[in-house]
Amino acid sequence: MSGEVLLRVEDLRVYFYTYAGVVKAVDGIDLEVYRGESFALVGETGCGKSTVARAVLRLIPPPGRIVSGRVFFEGRDLLSLPEKELRAIRGADIAYICQDPSSALDPLYTCGYQISETIVSHQGVVKWRDAWMYALKLLKQVAIPEAEKRIKNYPHELSGGMKQRVVISMSIANRPKLLIADEPTTALDVTIQAQIMDLIMELKKLYNTTLLLITHNLGLVAEYCDRVAVMYLGKIVEVADVYTLFEKPLHPYTQGLLKAIPNPLKRVERLYSIPGMIPSPVNLPPGCRFRPRCQFAKDICAREEPPMIEVEPNHYVACWMYAKR
Ligand SMILES: Nc1ncnc2c1ncn2[C@@H]1O[C@H](COP(=O)(O)OP(=O)(O)OP(=O)(O)O)[C@@H](O)[C@H]1O
Ligand SMILES: [Mg+2]
Repeated sequence: MSGEVLLRVEDLRVYFYTYAGVVKAVDGIDLEVYRGESFALVGETGCGKSTVARAVLRLIPPPGRIVSGRVFFEGRDLLSLPEKELRAIRGADIAYICQDPSSALDPLYTCGYQISETIVSHQGVVKWRDAWMYALKLLKQVAIPEAEKRIKNYPHELSGGMKQRVVISMSIANRPKLLIADEPTTALDVTIQAQIMDLIMELKKLYNTTLLLITHNLGLVAEYCDRVAVMYLGKIVEVADVYTLFEKPLHPYTQGLLKAIPNPLKRVERLYSIPGMIPSPVNLPPGCRFRPRCQFAKDICAREEPPMIEVEPNHYVACWMYAKR
């Protein structure tokens, strides 16, 4: 980890204007990802993780809108960049592995065609044949068996794990500086999951890529990441290095998440789950969003949103319990 900030997100807000009301999917988050690190963004389903990833690349579909914020990548604000300049960054400097590998591949074209296309469009390789040979090399690099045969396959001819490998080979084709991997292994079974994560880490090292891993799986965070931000209902509630977060979680929500991980060595009657329901994102509670589920809630929690507090160096938490007053 270099200490140099590669990606900085400032006060990002993304709202979806639906018939049911305004969904505040991301509601004022700040993030810093350092060059070379593996940074994890974790949280329960619907908390806004994918929306953050898509907003960084300005890929929010309607009825969604980036309401405010700035996203600096190597010092340039991606949110105010002309579309053409942004397109040059997307897929080249910043690669994105989206949550569903199938949707990233076009069923009408062979894998080889799609990887070659990515290479040609960003590197301007003149000869299609050169791009095709490079695509083949990439497929071998992501350990696709019989790559010479598979390169001519259509997506439907591949298993889920293989499809994900193809998507990864596309994402690294242009040696990105930042790789955003959104739940890259969720659709895969556990053994393939480990293989894919190992592959991503290997390529990360090889190409000196920074990784922003989006997941709800704390096991992956513990094994593969350096630092982590915990999200709850569109807000970041805690940021720390991974060791500290697991050793000394501060936010009641983080504590609950960690408690909910089953321990195979302990016999328990019932698995722990955080009490209460996630409130509707259309109708957020005032004050702290976690208050309705929090056993430590005080009066102030219902009135005012907690600020982000640096409790110890580089360990931040948004909770009134840690405010000095
Ligand atoms: N196109 C859309 N239209 C309306 N609401 C949306 C849309 N996309 C996302 N949302 C809402 O925004 C919120 C955040 O969604 P998002 O997909 O970012 O969550 P997530 O943390 O990635 O969840 P998951 O773990 O299930 O992938 C959710 O309440 C979701 O319903
Ligand atoms: Mg998601």
